[in-house]
Amino acid sequence: MTVLVTGATGLAGSEVVRALLRRGERVRAMTRYPSKAHAFPPGVEGVVGDLDKPSTLALAFSGVRRLFLITPLSQRETEQGLAAVEAARAAGVRRLVYLSVPLGPGSEAIPHYRSKVPVEEAIRASGIPYVILRPNSFFQDDYLWCRAAVMTYGVYPQPLGSVGLHRVDIRDVADAAVHALSDPVHEGREYPVHGPEALTGPGIAETFARHLGRPVHYAGDDLEGWARQARHMMPDWMVQALKAMYRHFQTRGQLAGPGELERQERVVGHPPRSYEAFVAEIVPLWRREMASGR
Ligand SMILES: NC(=O)c1ccc[n+]([C@@H]2O[C@H](COP(=O)([O-])OP(=O)(O)OC[C@H]3O[C@@H](n4cnc5c(N)ncnc54)[C@H](OP(=O)(O)O)[C@@H]3O)[C@@H](O)[C@H]2O)c1
Repeated sequence: MTVLVTGATGLAGSEVVRALLRRGERVRAMTRYPSKAHAFPPGVEGVVGDLDKPSTLALAFSGVRRLFLITPLSQRETEQGLAAVEAARAAGVRRLVYLSVPLGPGSEAIPHYRSKVPVEEAIRASGIPYVILRPNSFFQDDYLWCRAAVMTYGVYPQPLGSVGLHRVDIRDVADAAVHALSDPVHEGREYPVHGPEALTGPGIAETFARHLGRPVHYAGDDLEGWARQARHMMPDWMVQALKAMYRHFQTRGQLAGPGELERQERVVGHPPRSYEAFVAEIVPLWRREMASGR
């Protein structure tokens, strides 16, 4: 039974594709671009589809019985998610696993958390057996976005604040995805996917300092300063969305609730990977990338 992964070229989706391949699953991976559809790893069937163009989804979803749905960070996320749920229903999908977010109190102030609520409601109402995963903030965001700040300027730039987030390794999310897609015991359940400890901005800076053997300072909680920098790299709506998210992190954190770490192990299948181990892995990687001029 083919599994379709949307968002398959992205951070989470590409890891889920790799994890499904390791399990010997037949994987179809969706992208908007024909050039990328040909560039997936051997054994993956690339397919072109665009959540903004529902007419492209019938072909991409045809013959699919299991779907891992990722909706992108976008101003149209709700419409995109609703189009995917409708295409899944029309194609006869029998299990849908949705990558959502932790929807704790106050999270409705974050545009890209709020936009997932109607998608979740549509999934629950669709009659398709489903699982909803609610991963915390990914460790791997730091690998993608923080190299220059940490390695060149000795600064950890994400304004995560000091309340704490149980951030998670994307490989644990992929493990949860594989189990949720393959074991019917999870149907109708909603799982948090956290890392093992509450991380703060200053604490993360200290971890990098320890592994680098030199000072790394937390850039601080100044969201206006962060937004001024971010405007050079992303559109204004995205700056506003991420600023609302960081404000939420600074005021409320994004902490595992009582018993959540134990409960998530049913779907992840093992204890969560640590941030310390992640930093030990990426610092040498960053060094090699920089030495080779990448
Ligand atoms: N980053 C985090 O810390 C974190 C934590 C928890 C949850 N999440 C959630 O994870 C999701 C994003 O995952 P990510 O970080 O892996 O994303 P990402 O790396 O930004 O990748 C986005 C993916 O979406 C695809 N995409 C964009 N527009 C599309 C469209 N119109 N139609 C079809 N596909 C489209 C892109 O594919 P092509 O460009 O190849 O078409 C790409 O594969 C979001 O819903 C986010 O809220 C993120």
